[in-house]
Amino acid sequence: TWTMKGFIQEAEEAIRRQVGAEGRVICGLSGGVDSSVAALLLHRAIGPRLQCIFVDNGLLRQDERAQVEALFVDRFHVPLKTVDARERFLQKLAGVTDPEKKRKTIGREFIAVFEEAAREVQDAGFLAQGTLYPDVIESVSYKGPSVTIKSHHNVGGLPEQMKLKLVEPLRELFKDEVRVLGRELGLPEEMVNRQPFPGPGLAIRVLGEVTEPRLALVRRADAIVQEEIRTAGLYTELWQAFAVLLPVQSVGVMGDERTYESTCVLRAVTSVDGMTADWARLPYPVLERISTRITNEVRGINRVVLDISSKPPATIEWE
Ligand code: XMP
Repeated sequence: TWTMKGFIQEAEEAIRRQVGAEGRVICGLSGGVDSSVAALLLHRAIGPRLQCIFVDNGLLRQDERAQVEALFVDRFHVPLKTVDARERFLQKLAGVTDPEKKRKTIGREFIAVFEEAAREVQDAGFLAQGTLYPDVIESVSYKGPSVTIKSHHNVGGLPEQMKLKLVEPLRELFKDEVRVLGRELGLPEEMVNRQPFPGPGLAIRVLGEVTEPRLALVRRADAIVQEEIRTAGLYTELWQAFAVLLPVQSVGVMGDERTYESTCVLRAVTSVDGMTADWARLPYPVLERISTRITNEVRGINRVVLDISSKPPATIEWE
């Protein structure tokens, strides 16, 4: 009979068989479940011959980089190289407001940064990816019949000239099995249950130009959303909950002063697979706390609005 323990043992052996006794493997960490589980499995199989790479693109959520480092370096002692590419991404994104252009810019820059970092890993022969079974059978989740709705960006982009061979230890698993595997490998619950976070990160939640001050606004608003959703015990019930910063300013009042500041959207959805989604009927007290906290604590946002659109015809993300 199939057991997770049996799977782990067989997967470890398969990795060692593919990689050999000397081969070194590069694994891009994204902060999400799939790449984390793939990394832990590889680490069990080949130990220090695994080299993880985490790109800080400056588009991450609050404390995300520190969390990844604490988990992989401090707790699991996985060799991890963090690349601070915040400046590079910001420079490339300067003046870019078109959603597709944003995604393409970020995707291209990611591959460039990742490739540079991978090149510095001596004797690397393999690139690990957290590809799941659904990705294998249909890599079309972001495409309609003939048009690309949103170009998909993930830790993909195999460095062509480097001739790295792919290692995909999760390619027979579904998402729920990856979560079970993650638990078995000791991944903490908050990581196992992570809501999805898009590869282009907060950039596609800052409508209009992506600048450091605007990223800071959406990052702080998002941190409040995360905190309140968790406190309310709703985190695992929702597919996603997050903040979006609009390129809209409106008049408000603070003390005796007139303000003219940014508007933030609260987006919360339920979904089974992300292909369709319904807006979440959040309890009023939760809405109230989120709104009050954002407008009180995030200087620069004076108005919070609620997105009550389903997918289709809206999408979950705003860009
Ligand atoms: P949309 O906005 O298309 O999103 O309804 C569906 C789900 O996919 C996530 N998403 C992405 N995930 N790279 C990812 O890894 C991406 O480029 C990307 N774009 C959207 C989104 O957060 C939602 O869960």
